[in-house]
Amino acid sequence: MTMLPLYLLVHLLGYGLLISVLVATPILERYLRRAERYDDALTLANIVSNIGLLSPIAALILLVSGILMMNLFGYTLFSHGWLTGKLLIFLVMVVSGIYSSMTVGRERRQIYHDLIDGKDNPKLPGKLLQVHNRQSQYTRIQTIFMLMILIFTVYKF
Ligand code: HEM
Repeated sequence: MTMLPLYLLVHLLGYGLLISVLVATPILERYLRRAERYDDALTLANIVSNIGLLSPIAALILLVSGILMMNLFGYTLFSHGWLTGKLLIFLVMVVSGIYSSMTVGRERRQIYHDLIDGKDNPKLPGKLLQVHNRQSQYTRIQTIFMLMILIFTVYKF
C-alpha cells in the first residue's frame, strides 16, 4: 500500500488536467463565436484544438495510475460494479474524444481557412454555426460523462 498516495496523486493530477480542458474549452468557444475577424477565430480554433490535445495525455495518466491502483487493491475488471461502469464510460469518452477531434475540430479549421481565402460559398456561415454547435455538444457530453465517473468513484455503487 506504500505507493497508494503517489498513484492517487498522479490519478488526481490527470483528473485535474481533464477538468482544466473541459472548463477552458467552453470559455474559449465563447470568444471564438464572438470573434469579428476570421483569422482571430482561426487562431482561437487552433488554441481550442491544442488544448484538446491535453486530454489524451490526461486519459493516459488516468488509465496508467488507475490500473496501478487496481493492482494494489486486487481489483479486477468485473470485481466492482462502479469500477466496471467507470471503465466503460472512460472507454466511451476516449472513443468520442478521438472521433470529435478528427471530425469537428478539423472541419472547423477547414471552414475558417476557406473563409479567409475568400471562397464565397454561401453555405459556409451556416456550416460554421453547425460545427460550433457540434463542438459545444461534445464538450457538454464529455463533462457529463466525467461527472458520472466521479459519482461512480465517490459513491461506489
Ligand atoms: C475520467 C476518468 C477518471 C476520473 C475522473 C477518475 C477519478 C477518480 C478519483 C477522483 C478518484 C479518487 C476517489 C477516491 O479515492 O475515493 C479515483 C480513484 C480510483 N480510480 Fe479513477 N478516475 C478516472 C479513470 C480511472 C480509470 C481509467 C481507472 C482504471 C483503469 C481508474 C481506477 C481508479 C481506482 C482503482 C481508484 C481507487 C478507488 C478506491 O478508493 O478504491 N480510474 N478516480
